[in-house]
Amino acid sequence: MTYDRLLIDCRAATMVEGGAPYGSIDKAAVLIRDGEIAWIGPQADLPVDVKARQTDRLDGRWITPGLVDCHTHLVFGGNRADEFEMRLKGATYEEIARAGGGIVSSVNRTRGASPQELLDQALGRLAGLTRDGVTTVEIKSGYGLDRESELKMLRVAREVGRVGGVRVSTSYLGLHAVPAEHKASRELYVDIAIDEILPAACAEGLVDVVDAYCEPIAFSAEEVARLFEKARALGLPVKLHADQLSDGGGAALAARYGALSADHVEHTSEAGARAMGDAGVVAVLLPGAFTMLREKTPPPIEAFRRCGVAMAVASDCNPGTSPVASLQTCLTLACVQFRLTPEEALAGATRHAAKALGLQDRIGTLAAGKAADIAVWNIETPAELSYWIGKPLLDRAYLAGEPRV
Ligand code: NIG
Ligand code: FE
Repeated sequence: MTYDRLLIDCRAATMVEGGAPYGSIDKAAVLIRDGEIAWIGPQADLPVDVKARQTDRLDGRWITPGLVDCHTHLVFGGNRADEFEMRLKGATYEEIARAGGGIVSSVNRTRGASPQELLDQALGRLAGLTRDGVTTVEIKSGYGLDRESELKMLRVAREVGRVGGVRVSTSYLGLHAVPAEHKASRELYVDIAIDEILPAACAEGLVDVVDAYCEPIAFSAEEVARLFEKARALGLPVKLHADQLSDGGGAALAARYGALSADHVEHTSEAGARAMGDAGVVAVLLPGAFTMLREKTPPPIEAFRRCGVAMAVASDCNPGTSPVASLQTCLTLACVQFRLTPEEALAGATRHAAKALGLQDRIGTLAAGKAADIAVWNIETPAELSYWIGKPLLDRAYLAGEPRV
């Protein structure tokens, strides 16, 4: 059999569970066919007569699965550096949001931007992520908050997937904030978001997952439950911004609906962690938002470990709480702020991030049958991926077995 590509002379951190640390294979080779990993193992085990159209010698470099950023708000108009300055002078995120700033101010900028402007701005931020070896990005709506603008955001997100050199998973986040025009008609907005915008976006094939922001400044558990019932009826998986600023029972709610993930989870209780573990809900840790908001309560990492909750790490790239376009920086922050080990952090940006998107059968580890999304690094040990801040470490990336340019 002839293969499309052979990678040889590399060290593989496959991130497959259960073997050596990082699932490492010391002198590894990878065979690629039709965009997938056909075989990976010790180079010594390669059949001598194997034929490949292209052979890439990696000079002893480390390879990992292409990184997966499983929580971003990559598409939005403008920025909120002014609010950053206000917070540094003492205003809190909640105060700014309640005074009509926050998410709602990004809604105005997003509604006013053309699809091309939104795409150009999103691609600028994506460049930071791809520089870090990211090959899959989750992108949420939630700065449109009316039918036309939510659909516009999601179409732009799909376009990022067509032109950006990454796979994109979209999440519908209509329950992100109540838009200004519905301040006095909150229930009507919730109805519209659930019964009109979501079905319209779904019919256009724009929604992979349904998300919501469950928090006193956003939406209640009851409102989110209504949305999740609708998602279930449409056959869509769900995830949740849960327990970020307070314990609102978000983790338990996510568990009750079999959510792919509960995200932020700083204030999740022991009982919430147990419910997540029992239901197989991934905890998506967002240390960028934690750091930028100068939060003091880290997520209950020990409880997650005890309860067998898989932990992912993502950038949460957004204009309000996490203007962070580097997943590598978030690995560092997850280790320093939340005390993850570098191996846990890398699992959080590969295997567990894939699970948080329901894509664990396609991406997230280097194994036969998975997509050949592979990052090649200029490092001596995988721990360096969590160690450096700001040093470009990526040598190259392959997306579906093709070098990404
Ligand atoms: O993930 N928490 C809600 N959503 C974003 C913040 C969005 C914003 O402030 O614009 C987050 O942190
Ligand atoms: Fe978010």
